Amino acid sequence: EQRDRKILHEAHDYAARYYHYLLLNTEFGRAAKAYLRDRGMTDKLIDQFMIGYAPDRWDALTKFLEKRDYSLSLMEQGGLLSAKNDGSGYVDRFRDRIMFPIWDRDGKVIAFAGRVLGDGQPKYLNSSDSMLFHKSRSLYNFHQARPSIRKSRKVVLFEGYMDVIKAWQAGVHNGVATMGTAFTEEHAEIMRRNADEVIICYDGDDAGQAAALKTIPMLEKTGLRVWVALLPGRKDPDEYIAEYGPQSFLREIMDQPVSVTKFRLIFLRKSHKLLEEEGRKNYVLEGVRIVAELDSPTEREFYLKELSREFGLTLDVLKQECFQIRETMRKVHPQRDKDEQSWNNGMNEG
Ligand code: CTP
Ligand code: MN
Ligand code: MN
Ligand code: MN
Ligand code: MN
Repeated sequence: EQRDRKILHEAHDYAARYYHYLLLNTEFGRAAKAYLRDRGMTDKLIDQFMIGYAPDRWDALTKFLEKRDYSLSLMEQGGLLSAKNDGSGYVDRFRDRIMFPIWDRDGKVIAFAGRVLGDGQPKYLNSSDSMLFHKSRSLYNFHQARPSIRKSRKVVLFEGYMDVIKAWQAGVHNGVATMGTAFTEEHAEIMRRNADEVIICYDGDDAGQAAALKTIPMLEKTGLRVWVALLPGRKDPDEYIAEYGPQSFLREIMDQPVSVTKFRLIFLRKSHKLLEEEGRKNYVLEGVRIVAELDSPTEREFYLKELSREFGLTLDVLKQECFQIRETMRKVHPQRDKDEQSWNNGMNEG
């Protein structure tokens, strides 16, 4: 087992350098290079993130590894190759894809994410879990971001690889991302061990915002302070930077995160029809329910005031409303943890 791990580490390292070489120095990589250029990827970034290209062949990496006497069945277990359907051998798992190596915390390559050059499906093909790679506890770019995370005690959580890379170029050196799968408690623990605060900067589309809502309780549970950096117009960080530039990204987005409560209220607002009486009423009532979850009376008053201003309701009325909700909460959950469940209930009702 220990021996196999060592061999797989070595093979991943070879594979990463092989793909990187093919991208930069061969005819195979031409279209991929053009694609990356088109997306604003510089040579420096390609180098730093060791981006590569897997050619449109069934036997490129397979032959490469075979020549170096690697056991192909071990390579298949490690996620670098696929077994042929008829069991007669192995073929390349990644074909005609831009290759992003995934590193462990020590900077060893343990997996890959491969992106199609255009609009094909799946957009990203990731290595499956292996003895080296566990999606549920891998954070993309953590090995490079760790010094900055530990120094600032802050970590920025992005949705995608490209977001991490482009943000890095803009000067955000404490950015990481999960690998397509949902954020897990293990991810939160790793962050907690290295930071005190998290800024979630997910895509501005509905999927990204919904994912942020799910991620927040897991982060809060560990004691991390959570902020949310919002992107306008459903853009993701990569798209925002391409359109408005790195300075704007730093100043308007990274430097202006909102609190979790504010984020919940903004999300709530977007999901109600405020031009209709029913929509306005439900928005306010559900908003008060969000505020009622806060332990600090000062914070509660702060947000209730904002809500009262929005529709010209008196603060007194909203305070009464909030008080009633808190009374009910106390009866239902006498020693309730401020956990995921209570938040979710608050969000789903109504
Ligand atoms: N993802 C994945 N498999 C897919 C689609 C997405 O693993 N088929 C993961 C990837 O980690 C991706 C992240 O989810 O980076 C966010 O998805 P999305 O926003 O759709 O992709 P982007 O990161 O914006 O990718 P790109 O800019 O290259 O289109
Ligand atoms: Mn290089
Ligand atoms: Mn997305
Ligand atoms: Mn995206
Ligand atoms: Mn994107």
